[in-house]
Amino acid sequence: MNLRKAPDFPYNFIDHMLFSEDEIKARVAELAAQITYDYRDSEKLLLLGLLRGSVIFITDLMRSINLPLTMDFMSVSSYAGSESTGFIRIDSDHKTNIYGWDVILVDDIADSGYTLYTIKKLLLERKPKSLKLCALLDKEERRKVDVPIDYRGFAIPDYFVVGYGLDIDEKGRNLPYIASVNLERYLANGGSK
Ligand code: IMP
Ligand code: MG
Repeated sequence: MNLRKAPDFPYNFIDHMLFSEDEIKARVAELAAQITYDYRDSEKLLLLGLLRGSVIFITDLMRSINLPLTMDFMSVSSYAGSESTGFIRIDSDHKTNIYGWDVILVDDIADSGYTLYTIKKLLLERKPKSLKLCALLDKEERRKVDVPIDYRGFAIPDYFVVGYGLDIDEKGRNLPYIASVNLERYLANGGSK
């Protein structure tokens, strides 16, 4: 991983760029190629994204998967600010009856792992044909529960990151690259901009 000066963007809490737009694009294409190969015999493939962080990732990913597929979403919350609580609330459930489907659960980042662990357990009770996990980013050293990520974009150190769908208090999702947040500067500004 190569920390660089981030291209100008009017958020003052951005520290360094971790992954550029082009690097993300290339990695997403690799993940999509792997999924295309692995699911070549699947008859019912569902990409199930967790709102809202996975939106940009899943929409890019699905357009590079060269197979028929369906997309659905669940909305879950696990966070107040930037600390995980281990308590996962389902705010809105998926619409598809996933019984018999090959499901890939897609999130922006695996941190403590509670979110993916909890939702995986819930989805397995609904008897999909198969269930795999996909996360663009993985903060391995923060993991509190054992949850293997089958398709992982990038492993990152323990930075708080924003961009490409990821946010801090709902800000920063529209950055086209992924950047670390300078939490001191963010908090000094009262958590704004
Ligand atoms: P986990 O349940 O602790 O694995 O947390 C997963 C969720 O926390 C993700 O879906 C993100 O919404 C959020 N999250 C964790 N780390 C970050 C980060 O560095 N930036 C933005 N959101 C994060
Ligand atoms: Mg999230």
